[in-house]
Amino acid sequence: MKSYFIETILLVIIVSPSVAIVTPPRPPPRLYVMGDSLVDVGNNNYLQDPAPKANFPFNGIDYPGNVSTGRFCNGYLGSDYIAMYMGYSQSPPPYLSITDESQTMKGINFASAGSGILNSTGEGTLSLATQVMYFQEAARNLSRRVGNLSAEKSLSQSIFYISTGSNDIFAYFFASQNETTNNQFIATLVNNFTLHLTKLYNSGARKVVILSTAKIGCIAFIRSLLFPSLCGDCSEELNNLSIQFKNETRAHLQRLRLRLPGFKYTFIDTYEMDSQLRSNAQQYGFTEMTNACCGTGRFNGEGPCTPNSNLCSNRRSYYSWDQYHSSEAVNKIVIKMAYFGSKNISPMNVEQLVNA
Ligand SMILES: *[C@@H]1O[C@H](CO)[C@@H](O)[C@H](O)[C@H]1NC(C)=O
Ligand SMILES: *[C@@H]1O[C@H](CO)[C@@H](O)[C@H](O)[C@H]1NC(C)=O
Ligand SMILES: *[C@@H]1O[C@H](CO)[C@@H](O)[C@H](O)[C@H]1NC(C)=O
Ligand SMILES: *[C@@H]1O[C@H](CO)[C@@H](O)[C@H](O)[C@H]1NC(C)=O
Ligand SMILES: *[C@@H]1O[C@H](CO)[C@@H](O)[C@H](O)[C@H]1NC(C)=O
Ligand SMILES: *[C@@H]1O[C@H](CO)[C@@H](O)[C@H](O)[C@H]1NC(C)=O
Ligand SMILES: *[C@@H]1O[C@H](CO)[C@@H](O)[C@H](O)[C@H]1NC(C)=O
Ligand SMILES: *[C@@H]1O[C@H](CO)[C@@H](O)[C@H](O)[C@H]1NC(C)=O
Repeated sequence: MKSYFIETILLVIIVSPSVAIVTPPRPPPRLYVMGDSLVDVGNNNYLQDPAPKANFPFNGIDYPGNVSTGRFCNGYLGSDYIAMYMGYSQSPPPYLSITDESQTMKGINFASAGSGILNSTGEGTLSLATQVMYFQEAARNLSRRVGNLSAEKSLSQSIFYISTGSNDIFAYFFASQNETTNNQFIATLVNNFTLHLTKLYNSGARKVVILSTAKIGCIAFIRSLLFPSLCGDCSEELNNLSIQFKNETRAHLQRLRLRLPGFKYTFIDTYEMDSQLRSNAQQYGFTEMTNACCGTGRFNGEGPCTPNSNLCSNRRSYYSWDQYHSSEAVNKIVIKMAYFGSKNISPMNVEQLVNA
């Protein structure tokens, strides 16, 4: 939106310096969000156990109005910042909260905490396959409302923001792992991911933002485990799996672009961003890198954030909100880099993708 305004202003000045032409702002493209708890804005509130939930304090303590929306965070998630940078005041609504199609004008959030790329990950959650299926239904509805051509045009300009994979890697990690199966597992994961992306493309998606998995071996939950190999440290095995998944995903996206006409994407290397934030923590305002702000047990990483948990007072200086999730402060920094920056994003930043 920002550069659109600059172009408009320049055009007005050059073409007609003495006439003030007020161009109404172009409405932002729709935003469709898919993935796990890093982007779930409340879908799991509508699901039965064992789907994980966060619609109780102290989650949301820094969200406007101190509301526990279902976000696994003290405040905004990355997808909230994406929506705001795109020009919306709020994220699109959770799919399961929608009662009227007029609520889908900004887009829809299909994400479900605990879910993964594989159907077997996250019992009781909306798997990525299910999320894609719900989107396909939404695309058919849009087509019915505005006509097929108009729906295709709108969808081709929409942003699909996808953050997933961490829960698949955790599930695999705790089940079994060795070097041979690591490669097979990552191949299965990336191939299934590619199939989902191809389905989205076939239903009209053209602009996709993919987040890599972060430095998941360093979260408070993993540090809290009494593995002899850890002793409060990061799990190198998990971090390696995350790097492997990231490398393979990036390579597959490059191939998809060659195979699917009109397919555009932004790949956000959150693993590398996470690494750089961690090694320059003070510079970004973080003084607590190990303990989570809200939780119980070792590093506040053994138990989830509930009304009975320990809660830190200086939340802005904590890197981790709870046993699994980064704090709002981290989300904000990462998305600012992804939206406007030039490092650890390829082949373009999100702002360029929106305007492409
Ligand atoms: C937010 O709400 C929680 C739970 O209702 C309460 O304990 C806390 O003091 C509130 N925090 C702020 C900053 O208002
Ligand atoms: C995953 O689930 C979806 C819908 O529930 C189904 O269509 C698909 O075949 C499943 N995929 C695999 C690999 O089992
Ligand atoms: C699509 O339309 C059907 C029938 O009107 C409705 O039940 C469903 O909720 C709609 N789904 C979406 C995502 O708009
Ligand atoms: C438009 O129609 C074509 C051909 O029937 C179909 O493949 C496509 O999925 C439709 N697009 C939408 C957005 O429904
Ligand atoms: C790794 O797993 C594979 C498949 O289960 C098995 O054949 C192989 O022996 C294992 N390798 C090691 C080093 O444990
Ligand atoms: C997708 O994952 C399932 C296991 O959940 C696997 O059996 C299947 O082969 C995978 N598909 C591809 C294309 O890798
Ligand atoms: C992680 O990867 C690095 C570099 O490839 C390797 O040296 C190290 O042994 C791996 N660590 C584990 C625990 O797999
Ligand atoms: C991932 O890619 C980087 C850069 O392309 C490379 O240096 C690294 O060895 C790769 N790591 C793995 C585990 O594939």
